Amino acid sequence: MEKPAPAAMITAKGLTRYYQLGENRITGIDAVDLEIAAGELVLLKGVSGSGKSTLLSLLAGLDRPSGGELKVGGRNLAHASGASLDDYRRHVVGMIFQAFNLMPTLTVLENVCLPGLLAGRSDAPVRSRAAELLAWLNLAHRLSHIPAQLSGGEMQRTAIARALINDPAVILADEPTGNLDSRNGAIVIDLLAELNRSSGKTIVIATHGSQADGAATRHIRLKDGKIQ
Ligand SMILES: Nc1ncnc2c1ncn2[C@@H]1O[C@H](COP(=O)(O)OP(=O)(O)OP(=O)(O)O)[C@@H](O)[C@H]1O
Ligand SMILES: [Mg+2]
Repeated sequence: MEKPAPAAMITAKGLTRYYQLGENRITGIDAVDLEIAAGELVLLKGVSGSGKSTLLSLLAGLDRPSGGELKVGGRNLAHASGASLDDYRRHVVGMIFQAFNLMPTLTVLENVCLPGLLAGRSDAPVRSRAAELLAWLNLAHRLSHIPAQLSGGEMQRTAIARALINDPAVILADEPTGNLDSRNGAIVIDLLAELNRSSGKTIVIATHGSQADGAATRHIRLKDGKIQ
């Protein structure tokens, strides 16, 4: 018997985002059709300006399309209200950025707990889950440090813990190794690959590098906002 096709986690149809600057319309992404199954690890490639971050921001619910359809984890993002996008960002996706984007005045533990508390979960289970994640990420000795006291690799591992605190089905990473040396970059990619393999997380990584090539189920190449 044929195996059933895995369920689509991400579906985009004619997905378009342009930026209107005065008279000029700048293309972010242009009529992208895309289907990513649950459990895939997809690499987004393409030269600077090709639309990788634009696409990831739409997938993350941080931005809204100018046109087209987008569904992630059964949620329709193209027509979602602000409140349902907030809820989506708290429950369905975890995001990892090149510049880490940690809160500078909060400790490592507090940074990781924050999205859990914002999602309305109670303090004790959130703290214990955060401590567990940070121990798995080799940061048990850094819980009460603030980001400025961490190395780049430690900051990005903190950001990975933060992305995982609400156990999202989808992890989106925009150049997660861009500010790391090659050893720490490889550690971050190995962690993402492990999350894909062992927890079945659907992962989309925008990257210029080749470090994640071996772990990927698919490469998607963007050029001028279109999939090639
Ligand atoms: N807020 C914005 N306002 C106007 N134009 C924008 C905005 N954000 C992105 N763009 C434009 O959209 C296009 C796609 O940009 P995007 O940031 O998605 O590229 P990218 O593939 O992530 O590039 P990089 O590899 O440099 O990160 C570019 O032409 C960019 O200048
Ligand atoms: Mg980018």
